[in-house]
Amino acid sequence: MKIVSGNRQLGILLSGRGSNFAAIADRIAAGALDAEIALVISDQESAPGLAEARRRGLETAFVPSAGRSRESFDRAAVERLQEHGVSLVCLAGFMRILGPFFVRAFPMAILNIHPSLLPAFPGLDAQKQALEHGVRFSGCTVHLVDESLDGGPIVSQAVVPVLDGDSVDDLSARILDAEHQIYSDAIGRILDGRCALDGRRVRVGDSHE
Ligand code: GRF
Repeated sequence: MKIVSGNRQLGILLSGRGSNFAAIADRIAAGALDAEIALVISDQESAPGLAEARRRGLETAFVPSAGRSRESFDRAAVERLQEHGVSLVCLAGFMRILGPFFVRAFPMAILNIHPSLLPAFPGLDAQKQALEHGVRFSGCTVHLVDESLDGGPIVSQAVVPVLDGDSVDDLSARILDAEHQIYSDAIGRILDGRCALDGRRVRVGDSHE
């Protein structure tokens, strides 16, 4: 089953710093990723990533999440994304779990980036979990979002070494460099229609058009 796509309009959801968003936007600006960022949504009004999106002249929306139900947030965000013709939603440091309403509105068309080699270390503080576990390698994962926590089919992964003496910040920075590489690559492959789902395995080939 081919994954996505329709147009090349991306919707970005973020809650914080937004370096993955900025890396995607830079790739697009450099002509290395054929896509358009139609809308950047944040659930945090003061997210630096939202300010950066405004600075870049992109459409932005603050959709508050505090004090409202998951479904109410999901409905408001989905409405905005649909209004802007988004076909692929990219979570980029979005710190909220999406509910069934959102996931069903964009079937196999939501990506997330997670700072570990899933299924190891899902959830919060993945880099700290990896250090505490003592793994020699960690990395990052781009995956499709379903209703599980960090459990959807894996699109792409990159491995980075864990060095003796690494702090959480050291490891996080090393992983972040890899995140910035693989997220745009994965988005490009999906938009090019090169990914198909076979069970849980995302097969990457030539265009599946
Ligand atoms: C990244 O480590 C990403 O893997 C995780 O949240 C962090 C977001 O960083 N989901 P940034 O906001 O993109 O800089």
